[in-house]
Amino acid sequence: MRLIGPFTQILPLTGLPLKGPLKDEQLEIIEHGGIWVEEGKDPVIGDYRQLAQQHPAAEKEFIDEPAVLLPGFIDCHTHICFAGSRSMDYAMRIAGKSYLDIARAGGGIWDSVTKTRAADDTELTEHTVARANRHLKQGVTTIEVKSGYGLDLENELKMLRAIRTASLYTKATLIPACLAAHIRPKDFDGDEKAYLHWVLTELLPVIREEQLADRIDIFIEDTAFSPAAAKQFLQQVKDFRITVHADQFSSGGSAVAVEMNALSADHLEASTETDIRRLAASGTVAVALPGASLGLGVAYAPARKLLDAGACLAIASDWNPGSAPMGDLLLQAAVMSAAERLSSAEVFAALTSRAAKALGMAMPQQDWQAYPCKDYREILYQQGSMKPFMVWKKEKRI
Ligand code: NIG
Ligand code: FE
Repeated sequence: MRLIGPFTQILPLTGLPLKGPLKDEQLEIIEHGGIWVEEGKDPVIGDYRQLAQQHPAAEKEFIDEPAVLLPGFIDCHTHICFAGSRSMDYAMRIAGKSYLDIARAGGGIWDSVTKTRAADDTELTEHTVARANRHLKQGVTTIEVKSGYGLDLENELKMLRAIRTASLYTKATLIPACLAAHIRPKDFDGDEKAYLHWVLTELLPVIREEQLADRIDIFIEDTAFSPAAAKQFLQQVKDFRITVHADQFSSGGSAVAVEMNALSADHLEASTETDIRRLAASGTVAVALPGASLGLGVAYAPARKLLDAGACLAIASDWNPGSAPMGDLLLQAAVMSAAERLSSAEVFAALTSRAAKALGMAMPQQDWQAYPCKDYREILYQQGSMKPFMVWKKEKRI
């Protein structure tokens, strides 16, 4: 039995609508709040003095500085299990070469595949743990992690097993996803259909058997998989939760995602008005990845338009060695919100309850983060340069 607080403000961020625009007036703000924690029970958030009166014998975890408490952030799209750096790609890109040109020239995703294949499982696990812990320190308590740099039986399994092992060595919750359909590997003998058939018949049975992931992802793009092949593939993986890399450079992917009832369609930088309306009318979460826009120097996903049309908008980091090497979720969301005109409520929902929906889960009630300020608006105002100074995972301060 423990009482944590007092916090200058607590924003529980529960009970916000999951779709459409949000105003800051909709935020529940508990001034001088506290959290009452009792083993085996859901934590109670309320007025600190009242909680203290109700539980006079409670052990106190006293917060003696101004602090604004939020739930832990959920990063619903990352590729943090990888080896090697793509700084050479990046240097070429900022000097003018396009992401797709670099991919065609043998750089890009294939370069990370080569380096990840060369890494052993311990090294891969250590990299994943280190990145997850960095996220955790910055208040990101739940992290989706994709495979997709293995692209053969041995190495896709190596990645997913490394993610599983990593989850034992970090306090962050890691949620694995199979992205064997990232690109058709150069050393695969056959067309996209043959490759996807291989994923279905050789790889997925092992993943099911070892319960390595219950999420499946596919990159729909000219340089990756066609909408038609992706649709055929996704029709055969209905026992997995579906997420799609969609509309990054060209439209086509989000339509497949919606048709296949995917939990989320992610990227959307190239979504058309029709795509936006379709997503808004669906149960598929639209996931914006501002880190990829910043890394590639391209426009953001049309977050404002998606919200105004009535979509559920989540924001994720896409942390990966190529398009989104920064891996700072709050900074990316804050910077995008200024350009896209998102309210604080929309940004915080996109990083918590709406990101949870993209993962098909409820928002964890036992993960929190506190920022050294008196007013929640200070957080986005500092554009990610202010980090949480306290983080709790499963009610334990870390
Ligand atoms: O989400 N778009 C495809 N996949 C990743 C990039 C992966 C990479 O460049 O290594 C993305 O941006
Ligand atoms: Fe991605």
